[in-house]
Amino acid sequence: MDLAERYGNVGVLGAAGKMGSGIALLLAQELGRRRLTPEGRGRRFKLTLMDIDDEALDGLKRYLRTQLLRYAEKSTGMLRQGYAARADLVENAEMIDAFIDETLDLARYTTDLGALAGCHMVFEAIAENIDLKVRIYRTLREQCGSETWFFTNTSSIPIGVLDREADLGGRLVGFHFYNPPAVQRLLEMITSPKTSPDLVAGARQITQDLGKKLFPANDVAGFIGNGHFMRDALHGIAETEKLAGAHGFAGAVYMVNRITQDWLVRPMGIFQLIDYVGIDVTQCILAVMNRFIPDEGLHSGLIDELMKRGVRGGQNSDGSQKEGFFGYEQGRIARVYDLERGAYRPLEASWTKPLDEALGALPAAHAPWKVLSRDRAKDAKLAAYFAELKGTRTLGAERALAYLQRSKAIGEQLARSGVAQSTADVNGVLINGFFHLYGPVNDYV
Ligand SMILES: NC(=O)c1ccc[n+]([C@@H]2O[C@H](COP(=O)([O-])OP(=O)(O)OC[C@H]3O[C@@H](n4cnc5c(N)ncnc54)[C@H](O)[C@@H]3O)[C@@H](O)[C@H]2O)c1
Repeated sequence: MDLAERYGNVGVLGAAGKMGSGIALLLAQELGRRRLTPEGRGRRFKLTLMDIDDEALDGLKRYLRTQLLRYAEKSTGMLRQGYAARADLVENAEMIDAFIDETLDLARYTTDLGALAGCHMVFEAIAENIDLKVRIYRTLREQCGSETWFFTNTSSIPIGVLDREADLGGRLVGFHFYNPPAVQRLLEMITSPKTSPDLVAGARQITQDLGKKLFPANDVAGFIGNGHFMRDALHGIAETEKLAGAHGFAGAVYMVNRITQDWLVRPMGIFQLIDYVGIDVTQCILAVMNRFIPDEGLHSGLIDELMKRGVRGGQNSDGSQKEGFFGYEQGRIARVYDLERGAYRPLEASWTKPLDEALGALPAAHAPWKVLSRDRAKDAKLAAYFAELKGTRTLGAERALAYLQRSKAIGEQLARSGVAQSTADVNGVLINGFFHLYGPVNDYV
């Protein structure tokens, strides 16, 4: 079966979730586009969107309509070409409406796993739980044809383990979109030694079709992105524990978050990033990594304690940030969770000012991430900043340098141990997937 035929019957599992809905949108756009090409005209396309959450599937319908409108408005050139033979469609607005209706018509929403039986390709984005994924893949193996390809969005579970446990015979590939899938260009592709070469070639082509930038990763729990992020987060937690003695837990969280955002010139500090990803998701990924890489102590008592207290982070369905290490007002940090008191402490100069003074002033060559990210001369400016940082004798500079060294060591380890094919790939994942301005493996430290 060739790829064009496979595109004729595609399924998404967990389609109403955070990742699944973005993947569903990308596939809807691609099928809608294919229908209008000379090769696609007259072909049948079907997109089966399955989730156990009925209500969330209703939300998915609304999401697809809104997002397809945006996509169609940006694709009027493609629509004009695709609808050239349709005399009834003259204005852009008519073509946009037709495209949205016809594309939505390809979709079937269902809570029945059996509806995926005829799919030639299934993209799975259900919860990060090995037992659940294995159980579902076993059922799919029985239901689907022997040629169906499976793409899992797992963030950490080795592909070879899922393939073996569900007896998929090499028909599974790791297709790790980043959040949100429709926006993030990075896609980590993870193959196990068993993954069929046809599937690998097909997955490469699909990456291009969906407009993604592919980074290959080897099949080691956590892969490249989370392989770096989880170790980097554990370093941040260890740093916090060091500073908590002198500054209290909330003070230490505030300081390490500032070091990792301001001193390291990253888009957000490490604890804000954990909140964004979800403390619950972080705990899940750590548990998987710790299970498959047992010698590294990839575990955090602090994360477990926060989860026990119901401090989970993540986002509400409207995209707003839930409370985690921080409480937020309009997306900005407004409070810090105080472990000792079990309550949030509003950010107030009366207690943050002494912490800022303890960290010391930022080097004069510093510019924030937001400014540098738009600056063509950012590499030279970063080099000047880090050179000055190395000569600065403040607590902030000292902890930032230790952080940079740890981040670099993690990056080098990922390449040395073969998780990434090169340190350039590690840097590529951090720059494209986490929006860092520089890779962890650099000459700054
Ligand atoms: N959230 C992220 O930032 C992110 C990034 C990359 C990868 N991932 C991975 O993507 C996957 C999904 O994560 P998410 O954040 O979208 O989770 P989510 O909880 O938002 O979505 C999961 C969806 O799966 C559905 N579901 C659960 N059990 C199901 C079943 N048996 N059959 C069908 N549907 C079922 C749920 O109803 C939900 O809609 C996980 O493997 C996760 O590790 C997540």
